Amino acid sequence: MLVNGRRVAQVRADDRGLAYGDGLFETVRVRDGTAPLWRRHMARLAAGCARLALPPPDIALIEAECMAVADGLTDAVVKIVLTRGVGGRGYAPPQDARPTRVVSAHALPVPYTRTAAGGIAVRWCDWRLSAQPALAGIKHLNRLDQVLARAEWCDPAIAEGLLRDQRGLVVCATAGNVFAAIDGALCTPELTQSGVAGVCRATIIAERLAGDVVVVRDMLPAELERADEVFVCNSVRGVVPVSSLGARTWRAPGARTRAAIDALAQLGLPSESSP
Ligand SMILES: Cc1ncc(COP(=O)(O)O)c(C=O)c1O
Repeated sequence: MLVNGRRVAQVRADDRGLAYGDGLFETVRVRDGTAPLWRRHMARLAAGCARLALPPPDIALIEAECMAVADGLTDAVVKIVLTRGVGGRGYAPPQDARPTRVVSAHALPVPYTRTAAGGIAVRWCDWRLSAQPALAGIKHLNRLDQVLARAEWCDPAIAEGLLRDQRGLVVCATAGNVFAAIDGALCTPELTQSGVAGVCRATIIAERLAGDVVVVRDMLPAELERADEVFVCNSVRGVVPVSSLGARTWRAPGARTRAAIDALAQLGLPSESSP
């Protein structure tokens, strides 16, 4: 672990990242010294810095630190945390903020449990996401919505929970974005009010990994439940097919999900399969 470039494992107790969640993070898959979605991770980090009025990140420095902590690892997750640093009286950000940078390497997460149908079981969460257009999309450190949604279940057979916003519209999974093939079109929810604009999601949309143009639109829970196929995705696990949601079941992966898994693997990011 590197904290501001030093091999220590502590940050100060008065760091604003700890006190207020005043900062950003990225979790980057690094395979044999390359991070396939690096450019998009850095674009989101830079957008987050601009949104929070943090100094722009030193991308070359962060890249060098990521590669240093992942050195010798064939497949790892590198976490980058960037906070506004220490100090400031109360909430008021210090004028001369000196950001804290934490870069650490971790093993890949244990793959999700799969059902016999080949995908994961998901549930609806009761927790509704907060709406804040000014923070929607960026990966800031305030993740209480996700923590409390994920605390709703501990059945290991349920891999993920789907989240709705205050209006009842589908937004995402607790730790990933969601896509659904509805009436022949691959769709994913708008993220204008809440949610994280995932780099895996952005790659699927921009590079048409599932074949078709993706329709980004409001999505009702009932539409997702009647979809022909559903998958969740993030930049660590890749594309993961959904095979059940309550009583609704799918054979997984569907054709578009398969296409997205294959195309992402071509880009150097293999999706997880069964343990
Ligand atoms: C809340 C949330 N949404 C979306 C994502 C997907 O983001 P990415 O594709 O950048 O990993 C994540 C990733 O962990 C997440 O925690």
